[in-house]
Amino acid sequence: MGATVQLSVIVPTYNEAPNVEELVRRVTKAIEGIDAEIVFVDDSTDDTPDVVRRVAASAAIPIRLIHREARTGGLGGAVLAGFAAAGSDACLVIDGDLQHPPETIPALYERFARGDVDVVIASRYAGGGTSHGLADRTRVLVSKTSTALTRSMFPIKLRDVSDPMTGFFLIDRRSVDQAILRPRGFKILLEILARRSMRVAEVPFDFAGRHAGESKASIRQGLHFLSQLTALRFGKMSLFAVIGGVGAIANVAIVWGLTQVGVGYIIAAIIAAEATIIGNFLLQERFVFHDMRESASAWWLRFAKSFSFNNAEALVRIPVIALMVESGHFSAVVATAITLVVAFIVRFVFHSLVVYAP
Ligand code: GDD
Ligand code: MN
Repeated sequence: MGATVQLSVIVPTYNEAPNVEELVRRVTKAIEGIDAEIVFVDDSTDDTPDVVRRVAASAAIPIRLIHREARTGGLGGAVLAGFAAAGSDACLVIDGDLQHPPETIPALYERFARGDVDVVIASRYAGGGTSHGLADRTRVLVSKTSTALTRSMFPIKLRDVSDPMTGFFLIDRRSVDQAILRPRGFKILLEILARRSMRVAEVPFDFAGRHAGESKASIRQGLHFLSQLTALRFGKMSLFAVIGGVGAIANVAIVWGLTQVGVGYIIAAIIAAEATIIGNFLLQERFVFHDMRESASAWWLRFAKSFSFNNAEALVRIPVIALMVESGHFSAVVATAITLVVAFIVRFVFHSLVVYAP
């Protein structure tokens, strides 16, 4: 689809009737000079669609309404439907309740127009931004804690992102791979940022109070968020574990095969260990860290880091097992199991933080 406008302003709405007119007025004023449209993606049960149609009739810029019956994917699903319908690749997402001041749009657009990033994020937590519109101290605490938790779980992808939970951003929709996204609930930006490496810039903004109506945030949205975090993080980790498990089985099989043809046990064990380390690296490159390769160092450097780490780990693990057994607190089996689990976690963290560091 060819671009019909320079900018598509996507507004997800769920029962925002009293806010539509004021939002359109302020957006229209703010984007003067930019060739833009507004796309409402509406799941309302109130008269929001009627208000949108009425306001659209006398608006100075094109306004379109997508009304969904099924409310698929909630707010996140609405945003993706907006991307699909937008007349421009430049898609700006903004809440319908004026907590995101439309007056910030030109700053986002200017930054985006430089053309060197995939997404410009309006941040409450970047220098100069505020979150004073969060209703009460509990929400401030919830917001800050979940932001810190999220950033610590994605130290690389969210390194330059102070506000991954914001719903106010301008993105090039071509950088979004819809097929790998699992929108559930409110945090669609997090879903986008956590799934693949993006080039990111931030612009601070003041998160305001609601213009009218009620927030749709709920305990249920909170639970959606936690399940989203788990799926995003442990998806990679479980794949990493499966490949590690396959490697362990291959390791045993190689030792068996080599000793069958007369190779000495020590030599067979070394060959098997090195072959599995290399095989694991290739499989993890291909299946686990494929989305992080591009921004990481050259492949031979990744291989060197992974290979030396795994060899060092194998060497260190044997004396550690011996020490544990000698301490008298662990049997050999328990000691081996514990070191394997610890080694697995350390190995995963090392690969995501060091081997595939951008
Ligand atoms: N289409 C659609 N479908 N829109 C929805 C739905 C839905 O199921 N649920 C909420 N919305 C719309 C609302 O109408 C509003 O325009 C916007 O999404 C944000 O919803 P609010 O009810 O205002 O939630 P909030 O203020 O708690 O959340 C906002 O702040 C968070 C940061 O604290 C949102 O911007 C979040 O995206 C943001 O993370
Ligand atoms: Mn709101």
